[in-house]
Amino acid sequence: MRTEMSFDSIDLAPSPDRFHRDVLTGLSRPQKMIDSKFLYDRRGSELFELICDVPEYYPTRTECSILRSFGAEIGEALKGRCLLIEPGSGSPTKLRLLRPHLEIAAYVPIEISAAMLRLSTQQLQAMDPELRVLPICADFTQPIQLPELHDVRPSRRVIFFPGSTIGNFHPPDAVRLLTHFGNLVGPGGGLLIGVDRRKPREHFLRAYDDEAGVTAAFNLNLLQRLNREVGADFKPQTFSHQVIYNDALARVEMHLRSEITQVVRVCGTPFSFQEGETIHTECSYKYAPGDFVALAAKAGFILNHSWTDSEKLFSVYYLCQGDGGSRDRSSQMTVF
Ligand code: AVJ
Repeated sequence: MRTEMSFDSIDLAPSPDRFHRDVLTGLSRPQKMIDSKFLYDRRGSELFELICDVPEYYPTRTECSILRSFGAEIGEALKGRCLLIEPGSGSPTKLRLLRPHLEIAAYVPIEISAAMLRLSTQQLQAMDPELRVLPICADFTQPIQLPELHDVRPSRRVIFFPGSTIGNFHPPDAVRLLTHFGNLVGPGGGLLIGVDRRKPREHFLRAYDDEAGVTAAFNLNLLQRLNREVGADFKPQTFSHQVIYNDALARVEMHLRSEITQVVRVCGTPFSFQEGETIHTECSYKYAPGDFVALAAKAGFILNHSWTDSEKLFSVYYLCQGDGGSRDRSSQMTVF
C-alpha cells in the first residue's frame, strides 16, 4: 500500500469499508454502540492530546510522574537491549521519559491514525536521530507481522502499553489482546503497561466530564466523523456528552445522548432515536492491582514489578511472558 510518509513504514490501516460495516452493526443493536477506537481520527487524536492536559484528567499526568520518578528502576527491570513495541503510540511524550533509562535496539510505534503516526515519528526522529524507528500504521487489535529485523538483534521484545488503553477493552477482550501481545513478544518477552485504578466515582465523573468541555468535544467529534466518512446526517447539536460510572462493572462509560426523538440516516439506512437514547462510545475499565495481575496471568504474563504514585491513583506494571528467567522473584508478591 502507498503511504505519504517520508520514512519507511508499514501501512495496515483499517479500510473505510470496515468502519462503515462496524457502524451499521453497532447502530442496529438495542443499545447502540460504536467502538471507541473510532474516536481517533485526526481531530479526535488532537482532542485526546488536549484532554491529557486538562486539570481534571489525572491519568496522563500521574502516569508520567510515575515514569519520571521510577525511570531508573524501570530501566533495571527491563535490562538488556530491547525491541520496544508501542501499540496505539499516539504522541512520543512517555517514550521520551523512559528513553534515558532503556537500551532500545529499535522502537516500533503502531498507530491507527496515519496523521498521528507521521507527526510523532517526525518529532521523534528530529529529537533523537540515533533512535531506530520502524513505524506501523495499523489497528493493533489485528494480527501484526513485525518487519524483518536481521541486524537489530534485541535481547528481548517488550511491549510498552501506557495510558490505561487496556481499560478500553472488555475484560475477555483484554485477555485476548494481552495473549496476542504475549505471542508477539514470545517467551521471556515483557509488557510495561499503565493501568488506571479503582477509586471513588467523583474522581471519574470529573476526569471524564471536564469543565472546559474538551472531553465532550472529543466524544461529539465522532458524529462529525460519521457524517464525513460514512455519509451520515447526524446533527451534533442535538446530542450531548454523557458519562456514567458503573461501579459494579468498575468501568466509566461515555455515551452520546440524543436530546430529541429523531431519525438519523447513515448512507440511506434510517436509525431512530428516542429522546434520551444513547450511543455507547467508550468503556474505560478500572482495575485494583490484584485484579489486573490476575487478568494478565490469564494471558501468560507474570508480574515482575509494579509502581504507583503517592495517592495510588494509577499503576505501572512490568510483566514477563513465562519462562524467560528474567523474573525478580523477591518482588513477585509485591503489588503496590
Ligand atoms: C485512551 C484509555 C487513555 O479511557 O481514559 C479520555 C480515553 N476517554 N477521556 C481513557 C479517554 C475520555 C482514555 N484512554
